[in-house]
Amino acid sequence: MTDGTLHDAFVDELRDTYDAEKQIAKALPKMMKAASSPELRTAFEAHLQETRGQVERLEEVFASIEEKVRGKHCDGMEGIIEEGKSVMEEDFGDTTMDACLIAAAQRVEHYEMAAYGTLVAWARVMGHTDAADLLQQTLDEEKSADQKLSSLAESGINQDAADAAHPDEDEGYAPAPKSRSKAVAAKKPARRR
Ligand SMILES: [Fe+2]
Ligand SMILES: [Fe+2]
Repeated sequence: MTDGTLHDAFVDELRDTYDAEKQIAKALPKMMKAASSPELRTAFEAHLQETRGQVERLEEVFASIEEKVRGKHCDGMEGIIEEGKSVMEEDFGDTTMDACLIAAAQRVEHYEMAAYGTLVAWARVMGHTDAADLLQQTLDEEKSADQKLSSLAESGINQDAADAAHPDEDEGYAPAPKSRSKAVAAKKPARRR
């Protein structure tokens, strides 16, 4: 009996990620429906296509190391997707919902970036070059999906949502304190000698 090796851990992570991608492919159409911004909907749709490609790419990775294609339930992704579902059940205005959908989607992308970052590093260090190259392609796609979401948020969606939250204010931050904790936070502490 030997202890498990990094190779076993690698295969395990691949199975976990394969399952995570499938969960994402199921969740994205719901997020598309919940989105109001046409650009955001298009971005989700594009990433859905990309995600389906990533599932197939993982199948190539399994083949490249002569392992059977198999998934293993990814609890982490399940939790992140559950949080996204609760957001979609909230009674938010359109742009607020879009801002929240972006936030939920970026949690997904960051989880994936962490997973693929590890997978690429482990594949390289064990000399699985073909697997590493394939996984790197997906890592790059996840990174650009994340950047796309940031630029959508910053090119108007966050501002529109903020304007809806504070309709009477000019640009910049000039809130009337609404709660005690905010009022306290806004006040500078008196300096004592
Ligand atoms: Fe993905
Ligand atoms: Fe992704």
